[in-house]
This record gives sequence, structure tokens and C-alpha cells, in this order.
Amino acid sequence: MTTPRGRATEAVVLGGSRGIGAAIAGALRGMGCSVTAASSADVDTSDLDGVERFAAAHPETDVLVLNTGGPPPMRFEEVTRADWEKYHNQLFLGFCILARGITVRNGGYLFLISSAVVKEPDPRLVVSGAYRSAFSSVFKVLSREYAARRVSCVNIAPGPIDTDRTRELVDDPAALAATLPSGRLGDPREIGGLVRGIVENGVSYISGAVIDFDGASSRHVF
Ligand SMILES: NC(=O)c1ccc[n+]([C@@H]2O[C@H](COP(=O)([O-])OP(=O)(O)OC[C@H]3O[C@@H](n4cnc5c(N)ncnc54)[C@H](OP(=O)(O)O)[C@@H]3O)[C@@H](O)[C@H]2O)c1
Repeated sequence: MTTPRGRATEAVVLGGSRGIGAAIAGALRGMGCSVTAASSADVDTSDLDGVERFAAAHPETDVLVLNTGGPPPMRFEEVTRADWEKYHNQLFLGFCILARGITVRNGGYLFLISSAVVKEPDPRLVVSGAYRSAFSSVFKVLSREYAARRVSCVNIAPGPIDTDRTRELVDDPAALAATLPSGRLGDPREIGGLVRGIVENGVSYISGAVIDFDGASSRHVF
């Protein structure tokens, strides 16, 4: 895939039925991509046998978006062994199997939707931060290996975005928004626009980057 502007491509978007994934799927369709947008009913990334079956049914694509649901808020002392095991599979091992099982064609794109917690761990999201950071490490390795095939790997780390997920995490999203530097939650369509812009314009040298997508809410420099 040489990604000349506007060229139709194939995309597989995990967690593509709602929120950020649905916005990415819509944006890619808008540029003429043929998109498979999977819900949790199509593939549950914590069900490793189901993940293997999904990968076998979608052996290659031009654009692969690794995305899934996030764990409920839990502090370290609340997390059970079963929680650690489920989210290890959902946020880490399932993605490893998908990245191995679905080949991104030469010149294509692998996107990861991670989280701001990969850089700034949150005590209520200790499980999320642990496994997303672990997979971000794998993802970085893949970016270096895939570069020879001109496959770009872009890790998007969202801050507070206006989706069902944020409404699960906080009782009053408007009150949260008022505390943020930009005074608002992010619009998932902005992430769709970022992904589309990268793919449609053939932006490739950004590979290996972790992009903070947080409306300036993070405090780190790098
Ligand atoms: N929104 C934010 O502020 C924010 C910030 C940082 C990180 N994130 C992370 O970014 C990801 C996407 O967030 P979002 O806001 O778009 O979430 P969302 O609105 O809750 O949507 C989640 C999507 O993932 C799917 N999904 C849920 N559980 C799954 C599973 N076990 N296996 C496969 N797919 C599953 C859902 O499918 P169904 O429709 O079938 O349920 C849906 O398509 C999540 O991991 C979230 O934790 C979000």
C-alpha cells in the first residue's frame, strides 16, 4: 500500500462499534476504505480462542486498529487474580495474537489505542496502566521490525474523550470537563480525523511515536 491520497484500502478496527473505534471506522470509510468494524460480539479480546478465530478470518489488511474495552476502575487492593488474568488477555495477550495473526500489508498502518495512563499511571486504573504499558513496549519493538516493510506503527494515548467509557469512569463528565485545560472532553471524531489524516496523506515517518491525545491535560514533557 503506497497510500496516495484518497486511495481505497482495507481496514480492520477492533472495538469499532462505539466510541473511539467507531469514530476511526467512520473516518476511514469516509476516505473510501473498506472497513471491518468489530464489536465485542464479533471478537472479545479477552477470549483468546475467539481472537485466534478472528485473526484467521482476517489474515491480512492495510490498516489494523488494536482497540478494545477498558477495565472498570479498581484500586490495587481491589483487583483479584481473576481480574489480572482477564485483563492480561484483553489488553495484552489478545493484542499480541492479533498482531501476529493479522498481517499488515507493506506500506500499511498499525494503530494502537492505548491511554494516557501508559505515561501517567492512575491508582484507579492500575490494571489498565500495567497491561497497556506492557503492550506499548511490544508495539515499540514491532515499529522497528515493521519499518523495513514501510508499515507504520502509531500508538495513540487518549486522555478524557467524550464516549461511553468516560461515562463509566466518572459520575459527572461535565464537571470533569470543567477541570481540564481546554474545558472540554475530546471528541472521538478528532481521533478518527487524526488516523484518517495519517493514512490518507501517507504519513509514515511518525512510526514508533506515542501520541498524547489529551487536550493538554497531561503534565509530562515527553
Ligand atoms: N474514552 C476515553 O476517555 C479513553 C481514555 C483513555 C483510554 N481509553 C481507552 O480507549 C479504548 C476505547 O475507548 P472508548 O472510549 O471508545 O470506549 P467505549 O466507548 O467503551 O467503546 C469500547 C469499544 O470496545 C468494544 N469492546 C468492549 N469490550 C471489548 C472486549 N472485551 N473485546 C473487544 N472489544 C471490546 C466495544 O464493543 P461493544 O459495543 O460490543 O461493547 C466498543 O466498540 C478503551 O480501551 C478505553 O479504555 C479511552
